[in-house]
Amino acid sequence: MKGWSRKSLLGLEEMNPEEIIFLLDKAKEFKSVVSQKGSSLESLSGKRIINLFMEPSTRTRIAFEVAAKTLSADIISIAESSSSLTKGETLRDTALNIQALGADAIVIRHSSPGSALFLSKTIDVPIINAGDGAHEHPSQALLDIYTLRDNLGTLEGKNITILGDILFSRVARSNLWGLSKLGANVTFAGPSTLVPKDFEQLGAKVTHNLENALDGADAVMLLRIQHERQSTSHFPSLSEYTKIFGLSSDHEKILDSKALILHPGPINRGVEIDSTLADCSRSLILEQVSNGVAVRMAILYLCCMS
Ligand code: CP
Repeated sequence: MKGWSRKSLLGLEEMNPEEIIFLLDKAKEFKSVVSQKGSSLESLSGKRIINLFMEPSTRTRIAFEVAAKTLSADIISIAESSSSLTKGETLRDTALNIQALGADAIVIRHSSPGSALFLSKTIDVPIINAGDGAHEHPSQALLDIYTLRDNLGTLEGKNITILGDILFSRVARSNLWGLSKLGANVTFAGPSTLVPKDFEQLGAKVTHNLENALDGADAVMLLRIQHERQSTSHFPSLSEYTKIFGLSSDHEKILDSKALILHPGPINRGVEIDSTLADCSRSLILEQVSNGVAVRMAILYLCCMS
């Protein structure tokens, strides 16, 4: 397809700015067609997509299901707990069997970094990474970038702060690649144990001071603490984390009046963000979720039709 040659979507590190814009434009097209017609399209009629989720998910799994159905594809979701992975079958054998059952694409979420890349080299159908450990979560970053562009116009020269557990966040990594490729300045902020200084080598500014992180930001993206990936605690207590790095209404005086608030979800109210800010008019949290359907429609369409 002109403008798109990828069969699989593994991460934003490997994508160039033109591909990212192409995909976001396709998402915009899908969003306007579906909101005008209020109905489904026939674009992926006859295609069979398998959602293989080996970690819990609400937003990503359901958004891929809604996206596939809106494009008239068949989609089947499988969780690890109800699959034969629990009987000792390998991921490779599971994927080979899914391919033999007629899958045209596999959407995979897995706790191991590189699992999506591994499958893309193992089987012959498009692989869409729905989150691989702390490595990448490309569909999330693409919907975040879509939402930011929709609200800010351009990302060129915009200051985006990503605040929280950066060390264990695939969302932070994918956003860093995507946002900086589109010209934004990314700041990673949080405690030094969760935001190592050497992350500056990836191209982000790093700060451990919340006021510095918020001052001049066009948008602030909050991240939850990824307890499931941490074997030891990285700060004395959750209440101390909240006191020093939680976003509350007290921070309104530092934030620019037009600064936007994002969160990929799930949010932990009262920990990384106060309810007053999660639900305020500058919060784009639910807009991100809605945009996730159009972005995933674009991903499925481009990968299945390339
Ligand atoms: N943002 C995100 O990945 O949410 P889920 O874990 O609910 O899919």
